[in-house]
Amino acid sequence: IQSTITLNNGTVIPQVGLGVFRTPDGDTTVNAVTAALEAGYRHIDTAMIYRNETSVGEGIRRSGVLRDDIFVTTKLWNDDIRARRGQDAFEESLERLGLDYVNLYLIHWPADGWQQAWDDLQAIYASGRAKAIGVSNFQRHHLEELLANSDVKPAVDQIESSPQFANQELIDFAHTQDIDVEAWSPLGGTGGTLLADPRLSEIGAKYGKSAAQVVIRWHIQRGVIVLPKSTHAERIRQNLDVFDFQLSDADMAAVNAIDTGRRNGADPDDFDF
Ligand code: A2P
Repeated sequence: IQSTITLNNGTVIPQVGLGVFRTPDGDTTVNAVTAALEAGYRHIDTAMIYRNETSVGEGIRRSGVLRDDIFVTTKLWNDDIRARRGQDAFEESLERLGLDYVNLYLIHWPADGWQQAWDDLQAIYASGRAKAIGVSNFQRHHLEELLANSDVKPAVDQIESSPQFANQELIDFAHTQDIDVEAWSPLGGTGGTLLADPRLSEIGAKYGKSAAQVVIRWHIQRGVIVLPKSTHAERIRQNLDVFDFQLSDADMAAVNAIDTGRRNGADPDDFDF
């Protein structure tokens, strides 16, 4: 049994989704998506720039799970934002996915021209081909500018968040605005050091859970949508096996204490891609 969150436009999203950043196109992505759907995931998070939308679509079809039972997210890349290609880029993503709608379409980064891109996303939303629209890597000031200038609120802001960089102030601000938050690099990212932290395995031992499961549970209990990435079927299954235990307040506080305040990924106010 998974938990879901109802976004501000009424769309229901499973709280744990499979992330496929740095999952190579082809068999690796097809297998990760089918393993996830067979394990009970009903939420896949991709992006044009991950270059694996075609394989995500293939995995969905191969799984036999009904398309309407799956929550699919993709994202508008920076070059397309700058080139004002929002609507065309969206069509291209649908084509690669082999779908006639996505559940959520996001502005990937606040690149120059994101304000115009938001107009494109609103038109796409009005057409029904994205059931919800939102943003990613928006700081508080970006959200404030957007909220002041648009009637349609973003349903989500997808941002870097993990025990090492909790990003809690931004999460709290988004929640006050009825914007849900999705965490990328929720386990500390590819090649990260977080999962080797003995504090996490010690907490996990009390519940019979791994460090990764403790971290995913921590995200769930603070009300965040969490998008763990793995290319290994066993880990993919493990990462969804987090609904049969609850971290105590003391253990939540112990995970909170890991925060270094330093990002692993790019700074949304200073990126060059
Ligand atoms: P792999 O894909 O080889 O399984 P994030 O979601 O923060 O981006 O982190 C993903 C990283 O954590 C990847 O390197 C992934 O490696 C690894 N990972 C994902 N799930 C687990 C798990 N349950 N146990 C250990 N490592 C994991």
